[in-house]
Amino acid sequence: YKITAAEFVISAVRPEQLPEDALPEIALAGRSNVGKSSLINKMIQRKALARTSSQPGKTQQLNYYRINEQLYFVDFPGYGYAKVSKVQREKWGQIIEAYIRDRKQLKLLLLIIDIRHPPTKDDCLMYEWLKHHGIPVCIVATKSDKIPRGKWDKHVKMVKETLQAESTDPVVLFSSETGNGREDLWDVIRRVSAK
Ligand code: GTP
Ligand code: MG
Repeated sequence: YKITAAEFVISAVRPEQLPEDALPEIALAGRSNVGKSSLINKMIQRKALARTSSQPGKTQQLNYYRINEQLYFVDFPGYGYAKVSKVQREKWGQIIEAYIRDRKQLKLLLLIIDIRHPPTKDDCLMYEWLKHHGIPVCIVATKSDKIPRGKWDKHVKMVKETLQAESTDPVVLFSSETGNGREDLWDVIRRVSAK
């Protein structure tokens, strides 16, 4: 998949700020610091279009990136960061739930999991929430460069089992360091956004 254009569009905090051009939206959810923004950058082969940081909990809005005038990546704020206040956490829940419930353009959610660790309780809740609302999910096990290749299968199995994932959900092994899984993930995204 050749990237000819990639641009940041908006950091949205309110529903009325979301783009109105009806392009398919591919959203990314996961723990804070798991590598969501890095994954976007790797997918579009830009070093720093999506803001990444070693400071967790920085992304606070829905950040929209338009790719090839064909689709949006929607970068969610990360969850599970301990130092975020209760009020902020509740606000986060409201924004995300409204988006997942109401956004017709949402075609796929990439649930980003660190391959080294079992999914957290928040990851499992997110997965259940998506299933409840009938949103197609692709599980992305990222940071694959952090463990030896021989352990990939075992870790992917652990991720699927902990989430109690449906066998029909695609699972992609990924690394923003090496680009591992990039083409596989584009295949999944192309399939859903062509529908
Ligand atoms: P928030 O926006 O705070 O929720 O974080 P995020 O999920 O967007 O994570 P981000 O992409 O900012 O990455 C967090 C840290 O993990 C950075 O230091 C990245 O360089 C590192 N990182 C992300 N993906 C990978 C990966 O595939 N491999 C390795 N080795 N490091 C990664
Ligand atoms: Mg981020």
